[in-house]
Amino acid sequence: MKQMPVFGWLGLSLLFLISAPLAASADSGLPYSFSFSDPSVWAALLLFIVLALLGIALLMRQKIRKIRAASRPGASEAQRVRPEAWLQRFTREQLQELIALKKKKGSMSCLLVLLAGALLAPAGLSAQNVTGSSSLLSETGVMITILLLALPVLLGLVLLYVKMQRVLRQFRNKQRLKDADRLAAYLKDLPEESLEQLLEKHGPEPGPLPEETLLSGAGPAEDRRGLLQINDPGGLPIVAAKKRAQKRPDIDPALSRLVLWYLGCSVFWLLFGTSVGEYIGIKFIAPDADHVSWLSFGRLRPVHTNAVFWGWASLAMLGLGYYVVPRVSNVKLYSLKTGWYALWLINASVVSGTLFLMAGVNNGGGEYREYIWPVMALFALGLILTLWNFYQTIAHRTTREIYIANWYIVASVIFAITIVLVAYIPIWQNGLGETIIQGYYMHQGVGMWFMLFTLGIVYYFLPQQLNQPIYSYSLGILAFWTQILFYTLIGTHHFVFSAIPWWLQTVAIVGSAGMAIPVIAGTTNFLMTFKGAWSKVNSSYTLPFFLVGIIFYFTGSLQGTAEAFRTTNLIWHFTDFTVAHSHMTMYGIICFFLWAAIYAIVPRLTGKEPPQISVGIHFWLALIGLLFYIIPLMYGSTLRGVAWLNGVPFIETVKGMAPYWVWRAVGGSLMWGSHLVFAYNMYRMYVPGNALPDVRDAALSRLRDEAAAS
Ligand code: HEM
Ligand code: HEM
Repeated sequence: MKQMPVFGWLGLSLLFLISAPLAASADSGLPYSFSFSDPSVWAALLLFIVLALLGIALLMRQKIRKIRAASRPGASEAQRVRPEAWLQRFTREQLQELIALKKKKGSMSCLLVLLAGALLAPAGLSAQNVTGSSSLLSETGVMITILLLALPVLLGLVLLYVKMQRVLRQFRNKQRLKDADRLAAYLKDLPEESLEQLLEKHGPEPGPLPEETLLSGAGPAEDRRGLLQINDPGGLPIVAAKKRAQKRPDIDPALSRLVLWYLGCSVFWLLFGTSVGEYIGIKFIAPDADHVSWLSFGRLRPVHTNAVFWGWASLAMLGLGYYVVPRVSNVKLYSLKTGWYALWLINASVVSGTLFLMAGVNNGGGEYREYIWPVMALFALGLILTLWNFYQTIAHRTTREIYIANWYIVASVIFAITIVLVAYIPIWQNGLGETIIQGYYMHQGVGMWFMLFTLGIVYYFLPQQLNQPIYSYSLGILAFWTQILFYTLIGTHHFVFSAIPWWLQTVAIVGSAGMAIPVIAGTTNFLMTFKGAWSKVNSSYTLPFFLVGIIFYFTGSLQGTAEAFRTTNLIWHFTDFTVAHSHMTMYGIICFFLWAAIYAIVPRLTGKEPPQISVGIHFWLALIGLLFYIIPLMYGSTLRGVAWLNGVPFIETVKGMAPYWVWRAVGGSLMWGSHLVFAYNMYRMYVPGNALPDVRDAALSRLRDEAAAS
């Protein structure tokens, strides 16, 4: 967590940046008057950059001081641990090896930011109204110029900081190796008797101990006097210690690379898609934020939804699928090459789709099918290749049964291809036909693509993480077939009270109620799988994500059932209740399940684990952020729907929603922040670690090499 201060500084400055314009207009009534043509916004932006610069400069100063202090000849000697002291830290085994070697010879400020922020804050943040500021610095042109100058400087400083970190690490590395040299030289001249005396102090050889880590956990154990002593690493125990994952050597490195690429790309799209979500969320409370057509709400909204759908969730699911399908079939993936083609096709689809949407080129009003058909054709082609690949892999399986995870995964890919084709082939899309197709497409998209695939992922990873079999295979099969039966009937529940035939709407409503069957079956199955293993939730960093996903699977889906009835739909349909439901499900279920599986698999593939504390930060920021996002929206929307029924003027209800939209922006910011932490965790799982060498081990290995050479 050494990088934490940088994130702390940047995070606080960012929160400050977001809150500055809100606070600035707090007394001017709602909606807020945030706009990029407002000088105070530029001032806040500049302030953010200045604070970030200041933060980085201070950090660098600290680093430089450390390096200088450590490299001063006199000081360094005094600061370094003396060989005699190192010798006292040797373990019994190390001492024994040393003696054996001898015989053979025969011989490793956040408060300041807020304070500075308060002092330098733009006029809008002060308690009194500051009016008529006409200084040169409030000129937008001057601000833009300074900003443009500051940005590259900021970037340069960040790069410099990273570089300095590396230099410092190399420097420490060198120092450790020098210490090891000195220790090795000291040990060479040390009489064997002194070592034996030291060994004697450790007391008699202890009896066979259980696995070392069984008693000491992750902490190093010491046994100087024949009594086992656990060296608690010290510090405040902020998070419970979690069990570490083991690298799986038997995974084909080529498959591992493919899976890691899918997951890496998906993280990029999560960051991009939710940054856009965050921006359009801010636009609800600050509608004049910009006047650039490419950044208009109407264009960015589908950029957000399509990027998180096809870029983030789809690629993450497929990446996990490429791991699960061959594994439970007990064979190699049928074609790695096809896996790569599918990855590039889907990425190409989301990149080009995003650019087309921002340029205003789209497929008309159909939600989630705003990409024009050639763009979606790339996506569909990627899915067709994937289906063929998965199908062939399963066809070549060496297991008798097709494990249930593969049922769900393959069925969802078949459904996704079907719904894309149905939604894009124009022949049946005239008049109401288009609306019916739209409902069908939307709900099969979320239910038969995201939900079905992700359930398959859970059927593989949940038992594996709990180390016990799934509670009931039959319940899984029941949930599978009833989901297919009911989910495919419920599309028109999106258009209750529309011109679509009444009976068709009723079928959808009945189907929505029927959805309770697979949902209750699935939830029961998952929760019962936890039976007898609840204690494992404490010591695992993946299981809490699974648990949250399961809870939202139950509550989010049944919330959908509740929304489908005519009485409730009358209140909620045109309100933000639907948006709350979308995020409760797509975020609370899909994202949490995906994160759980990603944290379960990546350490197995790379052998590197994320810092446990930042996994905790990711989890809590995402969960608390989501609750801040959905609860105020659900409450505000219900009030709004009821107000409409009571004939309150529309614009009054818009004003009434403003505070809830502020909460959404706050929740969204936390969620977005959690994604940054998630990306950092991924970085830590992907990039080789920088552990410094242990001086005792390095010294011993020198002596070992010398002994071997002589
Ligand atoms: C930082 C996190 C996020 C923020 C701030 C955010 C924000 C938003 C906003 C402001 C909208 C427009 C709502 C409207 O038109 O009234 C929206 C729509 C939507 N977002 Fe997000 N979003 C986030 C993450 C996600 C993720 C991760 C997913 C899916 C995996 C997602 C799926 C959706 C969907 C499906 C809609 C359409 C909602 C509807 O029409 O009912 N969002 N989001
Ligand atoms: C029992 C299961 C479910 C039922 C009965 C259900 C029902 C509904 C209903 C009735 C609506 C339309 C609300 C309206 O416009 O008035 C809706 C919207 C939505 N649902 Fe569900 N839902 C279920 C599960 C899910 C799941 C699992 C997901 C995601 C994985 C999901 C994602 C969405 C999304 C994104 C929308 C917004 C669509 C739009 O943009 O209009 N739902 N759901």
